[in-house]
Amino acid sequence: MKYDFDTVYDRRNTNSLKWDFAAERHHSEDELPLWVADMDLKAPEPIIRAMRDLTDTGFYGYTLDKHEDRKIVSDWLKRRHGHFFDPDDILFTPGVVYGLTQAMLALTDPGDAVMISEPVYYPFGSLVRDNGRTLIRHVLSHNDNGYYYINFEDFETQIVRNNVKVYILCSPHNPVGRVWTESELKKAGDICFKHGVTVFSDEIHADFVYEDNKHIPFASISPEFEERSVTFTSPSKTFNIAGLQVAEVIAHDAKKRNAIRQAISATGYAEVSAAGFVAMKAAYTECDEWVDSMVSYIYDNIRYMEGFISSNLPTLHMTHPEGTYLPWVDCSGLGLDKSGLEDLIRNKAKLWLDAGHIFGTSGTLFQRFNVACPRKTVEEAMDRLLKAVNEVNIQ
Ligand SMILES: Cc1ncc(COP(=O)(O)O)c(C=O)c1O
Repeated sequence: MKYDFDTVYDRRNTNSLKWDFAAERHHSEDELPLWVADMDLKAPEPIIRAMRDLTDTGFYGYTLDKHEDRKIVSDWLKRRHGHFFDPDDILFTPGVVYGLTQAMLALTDPGDAVMISEPVYYPFGSLVRDNGRTLIRHVLSHNDNGYYYINFEDFETQIVRNNVKVYILCSPHNPVGRVWTESELKKAGDICFKHGVTVFSDEIHADFVYEDNKHIPFASISPEFEERSVTFTSPSKTFNIAGLQVAEVIAHDAKKRNAIRQAISATGYAEVSAAGFVAMKAAYTECDEWVDSMVSYIYDNIRYMEGFISSNLPTLHMTHPEGTYLPWVDCSGLGLDKSGLEDLIRNKAKLWLDAGHIFGTSGTLFQRFNVACPRKTVEEAMDRLLKAVNEVNIQ
């Protein structure tokens, strides 16, 4: 393989949230961290080079985005996901969560209902609650095989009953790994628009899609979908540059876009991160081949983990991820309660994962893994898990 994804780097003492904050997060140093969505794979060489060039100038002053920068984002999205987003519909923010928050503040009033589909990336819930909006939890359904889907009848009932104003869609969905089909997105959108709901589509995981699945940008479905939604994305997951703080909010409707721009400006945020911008430009223009190889490497990690679990840990069930690098594992078959499971994962297996309950109560007794790392790390995690489960079974 042209790129090296196998090398295990020691990331300790690099100010890494994933590796250097165990004590602050009440974990022990010997837990192998597979929690936060941050890869243990180095960013691609063109980004490293661009960052080095910036560093060498000795000037790290303010910058601003130009049309040609927004066009770089638009070209990437067109090339990779087949939809043309007008460059001038794009606003930059330091993060997707920040962008979601400002868009919600701009487009809703205090107390308004905002709906999410649990289990889901947990900051969605906090950003709604912490900003004086009413959180409505729609719960995803799943079959015996752990395949998640939207029960549209319940989805619509919740919207109508609670007078929902905004629905935050996670597409692809973290943590259940669904890559929503065009027909699912269309149904969800049609229901939302019928009841005057604006859709916020968080597409940060769009580049991590496997097999025959295809990421469909929500806005690509029709001009109405583009007009009545806001898209959120970022190079942060794909290129492992989350610390550089650059993300995009895309709103085609000028009224929405201007309101969001004003909300962002009201927080005092005026200029994008110069370092983030340098990385973003290199990412979206020089790294397509690296992304293809990296995604295929991660998919092999997923297949390895899935194979390991089905052969060695039949009491666990891993939902087959159609997308994202965050396998979702049902541990209810172990017969442990929430604290017993936590003890097994943290104290016996010595793993630092994201416990399922933080994604919503329907996730209790699940664990979310992060396999965006060298294969050896996944192997190590599986070995630790198997040993711990065997220990518990013997007792
Ligand atoms: C669905 C989703 N949205 C947003 C984020 C974080 O984005 P940011 O760091 O740009 O706020 C993550 C990170 O894991 C995520 O999974």
